[in-house]
Amino acid sequence: MVESIHRSTRAEREQWIKEAGFNLFNLKSEYVFVDLLTDSGTGAMSDRQWSEMMLGDESYAGASSFHKFKNAILEITGFEYVLPTHQGRAAENVLFSVLVKEGDFVPGNSHFDTTKGHIEFHKAKAVDCTIDEAFDTTLIHPFKGNVDLAKLEKVLKVNGKKVPFIIITITCNSSGGQPVSIENLKAVRKLADNYGKMIILDSARFAENAYFIKLREEGYQHKTIREIVREVFSYADAITMSAKKDAIVNIGGFIAMREKELLCRASVFEIMYEGFITYGGLAGRDLNAIAQGLYEATEFDYLETRVKQVEYLGNKLLGFGIPIQQPIGGHAIFVDAKRFLTHVRKEEYIAQTLAVNLYIEAGVRGVEIGTLLADRDPVTRENRYPKLELMRLAIPRRVYTNNHMDLVATALKNIWDRRNTIKHGFRIVREAPILRHFTLELERI
Ligand code: F0G
Repeated sequence: MVESIHRSTRAEREQWIKEAGFNLFNLKSEYVFVDLLTDSGTGAMSDRQWSEMMLGDESYAGASSFHKFKNAILEITGFEYVLPTHQGRAAENVLFSVLVKEGDFVPGNSHFDTTKGHIEFHKAKAVDCTIDEAFDTTLIHPFKGNVDLAKLEKVLKVNGKKVPFIIITITCNSSGGQPVSIENLKAVRKLADNYGKMIILDSARFAENAYFIKLREEGYQHKTIREIVREVFSYADAITMSAKKDAIVNIGGFIAMREKELLCRASVFEIMYEGFITYGGLAGRDLNAIAQGLYEATEFDYLETRVKQVEYLGNKLLGFGIPIQQPIGGHAIFVDAKRFLTHVRKEEYIAQTLAVNLYIEAGVRGVEIGTLLADRDPVTRENRYPKLELMRLAIPRRVYTNNHMDLVATALKNIWDRRNTIKHGFRIVREAPILRHFTLELERI
């Protein structure tokens, strides 16, 4: 699909962002020229996916679309049992309702916000065991999504009885779309077996992760993406997937698992929260589009084009001297806002200040991954200041050309050239008690 986008003037953007309370989530999408808010559900489906949409079987139970979906998942992932869900967080909701109890600890590499949210909703704690290298944006490491085995073993030793499973996110979105290596997964599997624990993979960007393994990990250069994907999933007991990313659909997700016992327990929550077990909150046509998308996403040529576009933007920014998380990740560029806007105090929301400036400069919408997202401490209600203040520029799949990337890079360079004149950010005027970043309103200081 091709759609038109519209230029606007700086004066219009100044007005619109002010009306939006300086929150990019509050903008109408028609006020945005290049939308890099997220790569989730924003990809362009292919001719074959649209053809599959026409073949959807909308039977309530046992639809042929479900069997097409189930067979594609079996072929790509190796998991026999599957429950469709309306998106990734719904898969988390259903699966964690079975597995997570009050007082539990769930270790993993930087959990995504909804994953952490669902763990905390069950009054359990998400423990971040990502390697330290991930938190230094200047450090080059091929697998910055890896789990620190010593940190993980400590959790298992101290709180082993209260660990229902280990969750690993591939690629690790929160650390910058950074991959996890097979070597690391094997080592985590060994630890998990020693302590009798399950491994769950949060696999929204599993294909991009496999691409990095093929390029960077010793012994995988000659394997196909599908062979690598099968090996990666062989180390897990179950997976959750938001199909809105690598399966290149606008909505959908699923849980896949090895054991029928787990399927039966999860089916109870599936029926309550999502729908019958053969559609789970999706239409038959959506299941067909996901099945087709999974095949397309695991083709090397597609992945190479996709990841290289992200790299194209990243390399332009690096050429201008703009600080970003390195190496460049799979789905997005993460600009290091603390190193970009050195005069803005953290109390005035550095990454948000950069994101608002970029929108005003050229109508480009990124997203703050910093203090606003980190939210307040639930007990003290003080702001939590994370180690990194990032502005993420997520690239939708098969949507923009490199010409759009040039515009984004030039806009950011203009701000980089006048960065020393930006001294102040924002204060909050209205915020929700939880997940405040979506709806909060700000004013300029
Ligand atoms: N896990 C990861 C790693 C994610 O990045 C996301 C969503 C989810 C789970 C939840 O999936 O949105 O389908 O419910 N990430 C989007 C983003 C929202 O912008 O990175 P969902």
